[in-house]
Amino acid sequence: MSKLWGGRFTKQTNRLVEQYTASIGFDKALAEEDVQGSLAHVTMLGKCGILPEEDMEKIKEGLQAVLGKIRRGELEYSVSDEDIHMNVEKNLIEEVGPVGGKLHTGRSRNDQVATDMHLYLRKRVVEFVGLLHDLQETLIGQAKDNLETIVPGYTHLQRAQPILFAHHLMAYVSMFQRDIERLQDSYKRINVLPLGAGALAGTTFPIDRHLVAEQLHFDAVYENSLDAVSDRDFILEFLADASILMMHLSRLSEELVLWSSTEFRFVELDDAFCTGSSIMPQKKNPDVPELVRGKTGRVYGNLMGLLTVLKSLPLAYNKDMQEDKEGMFDTVETLRGALQLFAPMIATMKVNSGQMREAVNKDFSNATDIADFLAGKGLPFRQAHEVIGKTVLYCIQQNKFLLDLTLEEFKQFSPLFDESIYQVLQPEAVVNARNVYGGTATTQVSAAIGRAEERLAAT
Ligand code: ARG
Repeated sequence: MSKLWGGRFTKQTNRLVEQYTASIGFDKALAEEDVQGSLAHVTMLGKCGILPEEDMEKIKEGLQAVLGKIRRGELEYSVSDEDIHMNVEKNLIEEVGPVGGKLHTGRSRNDQVATDMHLYLRKRVVEFVGLLHDLQETLIGQAKDNLETIVPGYTHLQRAQPILFAHHLMAYVSMFQRDIERLQDSYKRINVLPLGAGALAGTTFPIDRHLVAEQLHFDAVYENSLDAVSDRDFILEFLADASILMMHLSRLSEELVLWSSTEFRFVELDDAFCTGSSIMPQKKNPDVPELVRGKTGRVYGNLMGLLTVLKSLPLAYNKDMQEDKEGMFDTVETLRGALQLFAPMIATMKVNSGQMREAVNKDFSNATDIADFLAGKGLPFRQAHEVIGKTVLYCIQQNKFLLDLTLEEFKQFSPLFDESIYQVLQPEAVVNARNVYGGTATTQVSAAIGRAEERLAAT
């Protein structure tokens, strides 16, 4: 089969070279975007008088026919046509005859492939923002059901201060909000049109790039033709955003794995989201969060991979850049898989509030509050800290918790103690005492939920 670029060549391409350089195996994922870009390009060629109206119409009809085949899964891709761009063009020519060969007027595959990638990622941003909204909604739902659930809050994975479980869940809602905003911000740079840059320097045809941008709903056109075909920042940015998002999912995953263990028993993931062991009949493994945690590695890898491909790459297009695709597609699939599973997994998760309460009752996470109590009575906080440190040590030696101490015992450590200390030390009181904006007090967490719901409703 003859090549679209065969004129200059006297020999057939070596079979292994053909296979090695072809990208059709993976860039066929861009088939619809490729046709979409071509439709806008040929319309512009017609409107600018570069192609006769009838040629434009014929090519558009042909492209629509090719698009139909793509959507029905009927398009036959061939490795000898190297990539999606030449596969579509070959099919178009088969469809409408030699006039199809006029489509590529004033265009290069270099600005074409960049355009396809912009069109593709634009859709992914919308998709992932949607999936993140679903996840936020689920987390908010669980938070609302757990406005009275108190759980130890940790630092250094040591019990620190009791918090509402709702507050813990809402922390993730905030993290995913930043992920949403990062993706939305990247959209500004994704939604810029490279087409019209030609191979690198522009084109001799009197094209109208803005007309193409308008048709494809791009907000702007690349300023510099060399930059237009060399730029892959927008993909890097997506991969970086995806890496941060996966990092967030991996932290939540790690917590779910911990909380599902017999040692914690804070939550139980639904049977439908767990798997068993082929040897140990008692096992119920949290495979999904484990795998999300594990797959974070490949998402980081894809970012590092592309950063490395682009490092020191001279302007403008180099074949190296074809390596921008597989990692990006892999990240898209990995992210989609994780996000699609996370929302229903969180929605069906059983929260063991009794076990959480048990943990809170058997710890010293209210110690800060008695230190604050003494400081409130005028003792310098540093001294109060020292006094309570000694009190805690005494409790540990006596195998007691703070609420088990008698007032006499308390008074041994400071004469400032009185009956009200028992109220101050109740987990509810400890939680509700943190009534600052962004704190764990019930009113604050309810307000945070309200704000998050308002944001969601506005989308
Ligand atoms: N398949 C190529 C890629 O993905 C398309 C651009 C090829 N351009 C070229 N001049 N070889 O990068």
